[in-house]
Amino acid sequence: MILLSLFSCLYYNITMKNIKNKLFSKEPVTIGPESGYDNYIMAIESSCDETACSIVKNGREVIANVVASQIKTHAQFGGVIPEIAAREHLDSINIIIEEAFKQAKENAGITPNDITAFAGTVGPGLVGCLLVGLNAAKTLALTYDKPFIGVNHLNAHLCGNYLDTDLKPPFMALLVSGGHTQIIDVKSYSEQTILGETIDDAVGEAYDKVARLIGLPYPGGPKLDKLAQEGNPFAFKLPESRVDGYNFSFSGLKTAVLRLVKSFDGKEMPVADICASFQETVSSTLLHKLKKALQENNYKQVVIAGGVAANSEIRKKIFALENEGYKVFAPPMKYCTDNAAMVASCAYFNTNTFDDVNVEVFSRVK
Ligand code: KG4
Ligand code: ZN
Repeated sequence: MILLSLFSCLYYNITMKNIKNKLFSKEPVTIGPESGYDNYIMAIESSCDETACSIVKNGREVIANVVASQIKTHAQFGGVIPEIAAREHLDSINIIIEEAFKQAKENAGITPNDITAFAGTVGPGLVGCLLVGLNAAKTLALTYDKPFIGVNHLNAHLCGNYLDTDLKPPFMALLVSGGHTQIIDVKSYSEQTILGETIDDAVGEAYDKVARLIGLPYPGGPKLDKLAQEGNPFAFKLPESRVDGYNFSFSGLKTAVLRLVKSFDGKEMPVADICASFQETVSSTLLHKLKKALQENNYKQVVIAGGVAANSEIRKKIFALENEGYKVFAPPMKYCTDNAAMVASCAYFNTNTFDDVNVEVFSRVK
C-alpha cells in the first residue's frame, strides 16, 4: 500500500509538473518537450535595465526577439537607478510587446491566440522593474486565457544555451553575471545543484567596479574588455583568489587594482595593461575552478552563461577546452546579456520552477 502511494506520488511529480491551467477556464495545458505538439511561449524580461519580449518555439527556435536597452539613460548617472529603470520599463513595455507580436506574425504567421503560455521573470532583480514585466505577462495570460509561468532569471541565463542549439543536460555550467558567479551541476532540464559561488563580489560587479576605478563610463564591463584586448595581460601580477572548493572571491583582486591605480599617484596610467592584467587574472581563476568541477564530476559538456559570458578572454579560455576533448557551449552575444528569449526557453524546459499567477517578485536568491 505504502509502495503504491509512493509510486503514484512519483508518477504525479513526473507527469503533472508540466501541466498548467488556463487562467479563466482552468482547462489543463501540457507544456514542455513531452507535450507532443508545438509550444509557442511569449516571455517578458525586465529584471534590470533591459525591457525585453520574445516568442520562442519549442524552447529553441526564436521567432520574435525585441530588446529595449536603457544604457543611455543610466550612463549619465554611472550606474542603474532603480526608480528611473522601472519608469522606463513602463514606457517601453507595450511597444516591445506589440513589436514582438508583429515579428511573430511576419516570421511564422503566429497570432496571440496561438501562444501556448505567457512567461515573465520573477527574480532575482530590482523589485520595481520586475513588477512591470511580470504584471504585463500575467495580464497577457489572463487576456488570452493561457497558462502563466514565472521564471527565475538565473535559470533563464542557463537556458540561453538551448536557443538555436541541440544542447541537452547533463552539463557543468559557469554562470557569470552582474549579480552572480556560480558553478552549477545541471543534471537534467529541471534538476540543478549549485556547487560553488562567490563569497563576495560577482564577476560582473568586479568588472564594473574596476572600470569605475580607472575612469571608464557605465557600463564598465564591455568597455574594460575592449581596452584589455590592446594591453599586455602579464604587465602586472595580480592575486588569484585562494578560496576552498568551487567558491570564488573577487574583492581582494579589486583592492589590488585599487592599490595599483593609487601607486601611479596622478601620473599617466598604462590603462590597457591594467585592464589586460585584471582580465587575465579573472579569466584564469574562472577557468581553474571550472576545470576542477569538470574533472571531479566527470563531465564532458560545459556551458557558460550570463552577461559576462560575452567577455572575449573568458570565452577564449573556455572554448580552448575543446582542444582537451570537452564540448563547449556559450550563447551568442545577444543572448548573453539580459533578453527574453532565454526566459521563454526556461519556461518551456523548466516548467516546474514557479507556476502560479499569484507568484510574487523577489529581489535576491532565497
Ligand atoms: O546578465 P547581465 O546582463 O545582467 C545580470 O543579470 O546581472 O550581466 C550584466 C553584467 C554587467 O556587470 C556587465 O558589465 C557585464 O555583465 N558584462 C561584461 C561584458 N559584457 C557584459 N563584463 C565583462 N566583459 C564583457 N564583454
Ligand atoms: Zn541577467
